[in-house]
Amino acid sequence: MSTSATGDLDAWRDLPALQQPDWDDPDELRAVAAELAAQPPLVFAGECDQLKAQLADVARGEAFVLQGGDCAETFTGANADAVKNKLKTLLQMAVVLTYAATVPVVKIGRMAGQYAKPRSKPVEVRDGLELPAYRGDAVNGLGFDAESRRNDPHRLLKAYHCSAVTLNLCRAFTKGGYADLRQVHAWNQDFVAHSKAGRRYERLAGEIDRALTFMKACGVNPDEFHGVEFYSSHEALLLEYERALTRIDSLSGLPYDVSAHFLWIGERTRQLDGAHVEFLRHIRNPIGVKLGPGTSADDALALMKRLNPEEEPGRLTFITRMGAGRIREALPPLIEKVHQSGAPVAWVCDPMHGNTFEAPSGHKTRRLDDVLDEVAGFFEVHRALGTHPGGIHIEFTGDDVTECVGGAEGLAEDDLHQRYETACDPRLNRGQSLDLAFLVAELYRKSS
Ligand code: PEP
Ligand code: CO
Repeated sequence: MSTSATGDLDAWRDLPALQQPDWDDPDELRAVAAELAAQPPLVFAGECDQLKAQLADVARGEAFVLQGGDCAETFTGANADAVKNKLKTLLQMAVVLTYAATVPVVKIGRMAGQYAKPRSKPVEVRDGLELPAYRGDAVNGLGFDAESRRNDPHRLLKAYHCSAVTLNLCRAFTKGGYADLRQVHAWNQDFVAHSKAGRRYERLAGEIDRALTFMKACGVNPDEFHGVEFYSSHEALLLEYERALTRIDSLSGLPYDVSAHFLWIGERTRQLDGAHVEFLRHIRNPIGVKLGPGTSADDALALMKRLNPEEEPGRLTFITRMGAGRIREALPPLIEKVHQSGAPVAWVCDPMHGNTFEAPSGHKTRRLDDVLDEVAGFFEVHRALGTHPGGIHIEFTGDDVTECVGGAEGLAEDDLHQRYETACDPRLNRGQSLDLAFLVAELYRKSS
């Protein structure tokens, strides 16, 4: 490793780093970072390059991204059933979207590493008791007691191991024949036949069925589509963790963050002169930046120049999260200016984070209608400007939780308490996620 490469990778240490936990014991943190630095990579540079090439297709309008998973993964959630259900839902959504978009769908999980959360307040107060805010399982525990909320560096090691376990399951499920195309389609047919939500999509599911039969008649056997490409991603929030998992690739001599294929910078940590932008500038993975409604076109342009000065296709994805009420005004100026510059960017819509509100019961929630309206606005804006709506980024789970309202099952605000299980933001449940995929598919076809 050359000194200058190492120097670049540590330049963030001299800059303000927002949202970093006040770790309990700095010596312990150093020891943990050294241990992480000695662990095997979770992903390989070649896989990151492959994803980058697919995201270049997205930027060119030749592919669509489906990125999703928990707001905050938990250590207890790193088990076979939870991971399988999430992956199954993601693959089902992807088949529907592939058919509607008629381009490849790049599948990226918010999985196998999404263990750290930025918070709006550093502390949480309940009944007069003030404790540090929950910052994700990589930092502290969700339980509201002093011991759980201790920012414990050893949790970073557990985050690494849970990421490894989760990614291993994802690799096995997607490569081992469990999730071949016929099988995923059969799950969709089951959803359509056996749920109130699904019955609205009989026509689309029937069309997909006929397409598969047609492929077979032409001599292309859908049963042979055994493996799908799946990529991992998370918010690159905890810079000590990301730095410890950054390695110089032996083939290219370039640094890659091997904690995930794709890393993004959150809305709260994307300051141009901040530590996060500085760190991610130097790794060669494909990266994303979240852009909220306060982003100016100049902000977007400056981020683009800083993070992708060589205009490498597939390197940079902008994930916009404007809110259903704002997207139609807030997005066009950004796209126009970025597009005029001629640099390649993939545009992805996060229709979740601009649409959160508190229900009378005190639960943080989101309406499926708002989520869909933001996606509709995203398609409208891109169609009007002649640019490509590159994909969606969502928070969902494969389980039957009650965290978001709406959808064909008619989940109401009064139902939220039943199975409200998220460690952070409200997620679409399995039915709502599939509902969304079919609705987005219909939108895509209408708008193209
Ligand atoms: C998130 O993706 O969970 C998140 C915190 O998003 P944002 O940075 O867009 O607020
Ligand atoms: Co979230």
